[in-house]
Amino acid sequence: MESFLEQYVTVNANDTLHWYKAASITDFPRDGGACIKYKEKQIAVFNFSMRNKWYACQNLCPHKMEMVLARGIIGDANNIPKVVCPLHKRNFSLDTGENLNGEEESITIYPVKIEDGFVYIGFQD
Ligand code: FES
Repeated sequence: MESFLEQYVTVNANDTLHWYKAASITDFPRDGGACIKYKEKQIAVFNFSMRNKWYACQNLCPHKMEMVLARGIIGDANNIPKVVCPLHKRNFSLDTGENLNGEEESITIYPVKIEDGFVYIGFQD
């Protein structure tokens, strides 16, 4: 399982090598998530309209290795944007990927930009 997880590496916007054109902004629900595929990765993308921001993270919840985070509930915890896994309610920061339950398992996050009505996700591969 370790090697499967190794493909998920957090990307900072300044380190982006490739902006992947994922889909039109109209393909994503407001204040909810949708999953896109990039190479072998599943990426959860969120249109967090209440914050007027977009976020992307791995779709894989590290707790039980389930591809479910795109179906998670978004919200905030002390002004930190977060996604809550729909299965066992682990909370993850959408800013840093940190596990907000204080556990070790964290998630990777990816930069998002919107241009001409399309959503782009930043990758290093
Ligand atoms: S699978 Fe996500 S919290 Fe358990």
